[in-house]
Amino acid sequence: MFLSEKAKGISPSPTLAVDSKAKQMKSEGYDVIGFGAGEPDFDTPSFIKSSAINAINEGFTKYTPVGGIPELKKAIADIFNEELGLTYKPGEIIVSNGAKQCLYNALYCIVNPGDEVLIPHPYWVSYPELVKLCGGTPVFVPTYEKDDFKMKKDVIEPLITSKTKVIIVNSPNNPTGSVYSKKELEDIAELAIRYNLFIISDEIYDKLIYDGEQHISIATLGKDVFDRTLIVNGVSKAYSMTGWRIGYAAGPEEVVKAMTDFQSHTTSNPNSIAQKAALEALTNPERKKAISSMVEEFSKRRNYMVERINQIPGLSCIKPKGAFYVMMNISKTFGKKIKGFEINNSTDFAQKLLENYMVAVVPGIAFGTEDFVRLSYATSLKNIEKGLDRIENFVRDLV
Ligand SMILES: Cc1ncc(COP(=O)(O)O)c(C=O)c1O
Repeated sequence: MFLSEKAKGISPSPTLAVDSKAKQMKSEGYDVIGFGAGEPDFDTPSFIKSSAINAINEGFTKYTPVGGIPELKKAIADIFNEELGLTYKPGEIIVSNGAKQCLYNALYCIVNPGDEVLIPHPYWVSYPELVKLCGGTPVFVPTYEKDDFKMKKDVIEPLITSKTKVIIVNSPNNPTGSVYSKKELEDIAELAIRYNLFIISDEIYDKLIYDGEQHISIATLGKDVFDRTLIVNGVSKAYSMTGWRIGYAAGPEEVVKAMTDFQSHTTSNPNSIAQKAALEALTNPERKKAISSMVEEFSKRRNYMVERINQIPGLSCIKPKGAFYVMMNISKTFGKKIKGFEINNSTDFAQKLLENYMVAVVPGIAFGTEDFVRLSYATSLKNIEKGLDRIENFVRDLV
């Protein structure tokens, strides 16, 4: 009765909803295999935890500068320099409570009511909701399994209008795991320059890339692109630090200053202790080893999952090059029945799989598509084997 129109328009995060339903069933004693997770199942490396404990013991428990402590900003600048060859000044970097807050800060500071924001579809669940919260209109750029779910220039261009202000690029991508090549990013950059669009490049999965593939940031493709791009990243995925809530963004000083001012009134600085932990994550020489062992494990699981799925009649998937998700094509199961119930969409599939076979997956409709469900391989190989055995039985039992 008291809710604003804005609040009424927000949908809860469907990926978190599936995950919590699976967790609830588990806590009630059901043997549920969860493929819903959006976070690495590994523990935060101990060198990172120790630095947080030290920060507490040393009393680093007060407000910090809004946009992050200077030494963390420096570490972030050094990483951008080392990994992408990009130079950012402290005023061009902001640290926030997760990459998600960076995205909200950015969209709030860039989008005017009615502005259109181009979003790759299937989309990460929060992009359209954040755009709507900022008064903008999400415009989806369809991508297709046959193109490895990547945005193509000839599909993007007709969607650009006089109201288009921003294009979101997300490579490696959630939910599809696709990784853009230099040529594909050049095509997007060319359009952004020609139509004067701002680019938000969400690179949160940049470390989780397989088969020797290289992460390329669109911001590295020339000064014209650099000047109109905000890179968003963070420590959540690469360092198993989802709960610590540290993300960061780098881009034009004017935008970053506005984001910092906005943050000063919403959440102030990100958690002081987590900032120290993030500093350790980004500077400790052990970081590379920690990342490569995680990537190696993810790669094994991905190979197994993709192979198994493609052996199950009626299911298929392409082999994603990054992140930790597989989009499983379930469209051939539509029209079939389980215990008299006909499966007609991704929610039917996910619900019946969970109810009858205790496997949690995320229905594709959460990402705007019905033909798929998303499986996360951020769970042990043993769980993946067991879960896929059950999925195989489920599909076999469909009549
Ligand atoms: C594409 C994408 N961007 C951003 C985020 C948010 O990350 P953080 O935990 O840093 O807020 C996620 C988390 O799931 C994500 O998948």
